Amino acid sequence: MPRLPEPDTWFGSGRLGRVSKFVVGGRSAGTTRRSLKDANMKSTLLGLTTAILTVVGSAHAQDISSGNAEAGAVVFRRCMACHKVGPDAMNGVGPVLNAVVGRAAGAYPDYSYSAANKNSGLTWDELTLATYLRAPRKLVPGTKMTFAGLSKDQEIADVIAYLKQFNAQGQKVGP
Ligand code: HEC
Repeated sequence: MPRLPEPDTWFGSGRLGRVSKFVVGGRSAGTTRRSLKDANMKSTLLGLTTAILTVVGSAHAQDISSGNAEAGAVVFRRCMACHKVGPDAMNGVGPVLNAVVGRAAGAYPDYSYSAANKNSGLTWDELTLATYLRAPRKLVPGTKMTFAGLSKDQEIADVIAYLKQFNAQGQKVGP
Protein backbone atom coordinates (compact mmCIF):
# COMPACT_ATOMS: atom_id res chain seq x y z
CA MET A 1 0.00 0.00 0.00
CA PRO A 2 1.35 3.45 -0.83
CA ARG A 3 2.22 5.55 2.15
CA LEU A 4 2.86 9.23 2.56
CA PRO A 5 6.54 10.23 2.47
CA GLU A 6 8.63 10.12 5.62
CA PRO A 7 8.80 13.38 7.61
CA ASP A 8 12.30 14.35 6.49
CA THR A 9 11.49 13.95 2.79
CA TRP A 10 8.24 15.72 3.49
CA PHE A 11 9.59 18.83 5.15
CA GLY A 12 13.11 19.02 3.78
CA SER A 13 14.60 22.14 5.33
CA GLY A 14 11.20 23.34 6.47
CA ARG A 15 9.51 23.41 9.85
CA LEU A 16 11.35 20.50 11.43
CA GLY A 17 14.66 21.88 10.25
CA ARG A 18 14.01 25.07 12.16
CA VAL A 19 12.96 23.25 15.31
CA SER A 20 16.15 21.25 15.49
CA LYS A 21 18.31 24.28 14.64
CA PHE A 22 16.73 26.02 17.62
CA VAL A 23 17.78 23.19 19.91
CA VAL A 24 21.30 23.18 18.48
CA GLY A 25 21.40 26.95 19.06
CA GLY A 26 20.37 26.42 22.69
CA ARG A 27 23.19 23.95 23.14
CA SER A 28 25.90 26.25 21.87
CA ALA A 29 24.56 29.16 23.97
CA GLY A 30 25.01 26.80 26.93
CA THR A 31 28.80 26.91 26.54
CA THR A 32 28.88 30.59 27.59
CA ARG A 33 26.01 30.67 30.12
CA ARG A 34 26.13 27.33 31.86
CA SER A 35 23.54 27.11 34.64
CA LEU A 36 21.04 24.65 36.01
CA LYS A 37 18.22 26.74 34.54
CA ASP A 38 19.78 26.50 31.08
CA ALA A 39 20.18 22.78 31.43
CA ASN A 40 16.54 22.37 32.40
CA MET A 41 15.42 24.52 29.54
CA LYS A 42 17.50 22.48 27.14
CA SER A 43 15.99 19.20 28.24
CA THR A 44 12.49 20.72 28.05
CA LEU A 45 13.19 21.87 24.51
CA LEU A 46 14.59 18.49 23.64
CA GLY A 47 11.48 16.79 25.05
CA LEU A 48 9.25 19.18 23.16
CA THR A 49 11.09 18.51 19.92
CA THR A 50 10.77 14.77 20.45
CA ALA A 51 7.05 15.20 21.07
CA ILE A 52 6.63 17.28 17.89
CA LEU A 53 8.63 14.76 15.86
CA THR A 54 6.48 11.93 17.18
CA VAL A 55 3.21 13.68 16.35
CA VAL A 56 4.36 14.80 12.90
CA GLY A 57 5.87 11.39 12.20
CA SER A 58 2.73 9.45 12.98
CA ALA A 59 0.51 11.89 11.10
CA HIS A 60 2.60 11.50 7.99
CA ALA A 61 2.78 7.75 8.18
CA GLN A 62 -0.92 7.86 7.39
CA ASP A 63 -2.03 5.70 4.51
CA ILE A 64 -2.93 7.53 1.31
CA SER A 65 -5.51 4.86 0.62
CA SER A 66 -7.48 6.14 3.62
CA GLY A 67 -8.78 8.85 1.28
CA ASN A 68 -12.50 9.40 0.96
CA ALA A 69 -13.68 10.38 -2.52
CA GLU A 70 -16.78 12.19 -1.28
CA ALA A 71 -14.78 14.34 1.10
CA GLY A 72 -12.31 14.82 -1.75
CA ALA A 73 -15.04 16.34 -3.92
CA VAL A 74 -15.31 19.10 -1.32
CA VAL A 75 -11.54 19.58 -1.20
CA PHE A 76 -11.49 19.71 -5.01
CA ARG A 77 -13.59 22.89 -4.92
CA ARG A 78 -10.33 24.61 -4.00
CA CYS A 79 -8.81 23.40 -7.25
CA MET A 80 -11.77 24.25 -9.47
CA ALA A 81 -10.83 27.83 -10.18
CA CYS A 82 -8.04 26.34 -12.27
CA HIS A 83 -8.82 22.64 -12.90
CA LYS A 84 -11.74 20.70 -14.33
CA VAL A 85 -12.68 17.02 -14.34
CA GLY A 86 -15.53 15.21 -16.06
CA PRO A 87 -16.59 14.42 -19.65
CA ASP A 88 -16.81 18.08 -20.71
CA ALA A 89 -13.70 19.25 -18.88
CA MET A 90 -11.54 21.78 -20.71
CA ASN A 91 -8.12 23.19 -19.93
CA GLY A 92 -8.27 26.46 -18.02
CA VAL A 93 -5.66 28.17 -15.91
CA GLY A 94 -4.50 24.62 -15.20
CA PRO A 95 -4.75 21.38 -17.21
CA VAL A 96 -7.69 18.95 -17.14
CA LEU A 97 -7.20 16.46 -14.33
CA ASN A 98 -9.09 13.47 -15.76
CA ALA A 99 -7.03 10.31 -15.19
CA VAL A 100 -4.23 12.36 -13.67
CA VAL A 101 -3.35 9.65 -11.13
CA GLY A 102 -0.69 7.59 -12.87
CA ARG A 103 -0.23 10.11 -15.71
CA ALA A 104 3.15 11.54 -16.68
CA ALA A 105 3.62 15.18 -15.70
CA GLY A 106 2.98 17.66 -18.48
CA ALA A 107 1.09 15.19 -20.66
CA TYR A 108 -2.44 16.57 -21.08
CA PRO A 109 -3.00 17.55 -24.75
CA ASP A 110 -3.13 21.21 -25.80
CA TYR A 111 -2.17 22.61 -22.44
CA SER A 112 0.74 25.00 -22.28
CA TYR A 113 2.79 23.65 -19.37
CA SER A 114 5.74 25.37 -17.77
CA ALA A 115 9.13 23.89 -18.68
CA ALA A 116 9.54 23.05 -14.99
CA ASN A 117 6.51 20.77 -15.04
CA LYS A 118 7.02 19.35 -18.51
CA ASN A 119 10.66 18.47 -17.89
CA SER A 120 10.20 17.29 -14.31
CA GLY A 121 10.28 13.63 -15.33
CA LEU A 122 7.61 12.95 -12.70
CA THR A 123 4.71 10.56 -12.92
CA TRP A 124 1.71 11.46 -10.83
CA ASP A 125 1.45 8.26 -8.83
CA GLU A 126 -0.23 8.66 -5.47
CA LEU A 127 2.92 9.26 -3.48
CA THR A 128 4.24 11.87 -5.92
CA LEU A 129 0.87 13.60 -6.02
CA ALA A 130 0.73 13.68 -2.24
CA THR A 131 4.16 15.30 -2.09
CA TYR A 132 3.23 17.76 -4.84
CA LEU A 133 -0.11 18.78 -3.33
CA ARG A 134 1.55 19.44 0.00
CA ALA A 135 3.89 22.03 -1.50
CA PRO A 136 3.78 22.24 -5.32
CA ARG A 137 6.66 24.66 -5.69
CA LYS A 138 8.89 22.59 -3.46
CA LEU A 139 8.59 19.46 -5.61
CA VAL A 140 8.52 21.34 -8.93
CA PRO A 141 10.44 24.59 -8.47
CA GLY A 142 9.33 27.03 -11.17
CA THR A 143 5.89 25.48 -11.68
CA LYS A 144 3.22 27.93 -12.75
CA MET A 145 0.73 26.35 -10.38
CA THR A 146 0.43 29.19 -7.86
CA PHE A 147 -1.64 27.12 -5.41
CA ALA A 148 0.20 27.13 -2.06
CA GLY A 149 -0.64 23.53 -1.20
CA LEU A 150 -2.89 21.53 1.10
CA SER A 151 -1.77 21.39 4.71
CA LYS A 152 -3.77 18.40 5.95
CA ASP A 153 -2.82 14.80 5.15
CA GLN A 154 -6.45 13.76 5.18
CA GLU A 155 -7.39 16.43 2.61
CA ILE A 156 -4.54 15.27 0.39
CA ALA A 157 -5.63 11.62 0.67
CA ASP A 158 -9.26 12.61 0.05
CA VAL A 159 -8.60 14.70 -3.06
CA ILE A 160 -6.43 11.92 -4.52
CA ALA A 161 -9.26 9.42 -3.88
CA TYR A 162 -11.60 11.83 -5.67
CA LEU A 163 -9.29 12.28 -8.68
CA LYS A 164 -8.69 8.54 -8.98
CA GLN A 165 -12.32 8.06 -9.93
CA PHE A 166 -12.05 9.79 -13.30
CA ASN A 167 -10.87 7.91 -16.38
CA ALA A 168 -9.34 9.63 -19.41
CA GLN A 169 -12.82 10.36 -20.79
CA GLY A 170 -13.81 11.98 -17.51
CA GLN A 171 -16.19 9.20 -16.58
CA LYS A 172 -16.33 8.05 -13.01
CA VAL A 173 -15.07 4.51 -12.80
CA GLY A 174 -14.80 2.60 -9.55
CA PRO A 175 -15.39 3.94 -6.08
C1 HEC B 1 -4.56 29.07 -9.05
C2 HEC B 1 -4.74 28.00 -9.97
C3 HEC B 1 -4.57 26.58 -9.48
C4 HEC B 1 -5.13 25.96 -8.39
C5 HEC B 1 -6.07 26.58 -7.36
C6 HEC B 1 -4.69 24.59 -8.42
N1 HEC B 1 -3.85 24.39 -9.49
FE1 HEC B 1 -3.03 22.61 -10.07
N2 HEC B 1 -2.11 23.54 -11.64
C7 HEC B 1 -2.26 24.87 -11.98
C8 HEC B 1 -1.42 25.17 -13.11
C9 HEC B 1 -1.28 26.54 -13.78
C10 HEC B 1 -0.77 23.96 -13.45
C11 HEC B 1 0.28 23.75 -14.53
C12 HEC B 1 1.63 23.75 -13.86
C13 HEC B 1 2.82 23.95 -14.77
O1 HEC B 1 2.72 23.78 -15.99
O2 HEC B 1 3.86 24.30 -14.21
C14 HEC B 1 -1.22 22.96 -12.49
C15 HEC B 1 -0.81 21.64 -12.48
C16 HEC B 1 -1.33 20.65 -11.67
C17 HEC B 1 -1.00 19.26 -11.74
C18 HEC B 1 -0.02 18.64 -12.73
C19 HEC B 1 -0.83 18.20 -13.95
C20 HEC B 1 -0.04 17.66 -15.09
O3 HEC B 1 -0.69 17.27 -16.10
O4 HEC B 1 1.19 17.62 -15.06
C21 HEC B 1 -1.74 18.62 -10.81
C22 HEC B 1 -1.74 17.16 -10.50
C23 HEC B 1 -2.53 19.63 -10.13
N3 HEC B 1 -2.24 20.85 -10.67
C24 HEC B 1 -3.41 19.36 -9.12
C25 HEC B 1 -4.11 20.34 -8.41
C26 HEC B 1 -5.02 20.05 -7.33
C27 HEC B 1 -5.44 18.67 -6.87
C28 HEC B 1 -5.45 21.25 -6.85
C29 HEC B 1 -6.35 21.52 -5.68
C30 HEC B 1 -5.99 20.91 -4.42
C31 HEC B 1 -4.82 22.29 -7.66
N4 HEC B 1 -4.02 21.70 -8.59
C32 HEC B 1 -5.04 23.64 -7.51
C33 HEC B 1 -3.06 25.78 -11.34
C34 HEC B 1 -3.77 25.57 -10.17
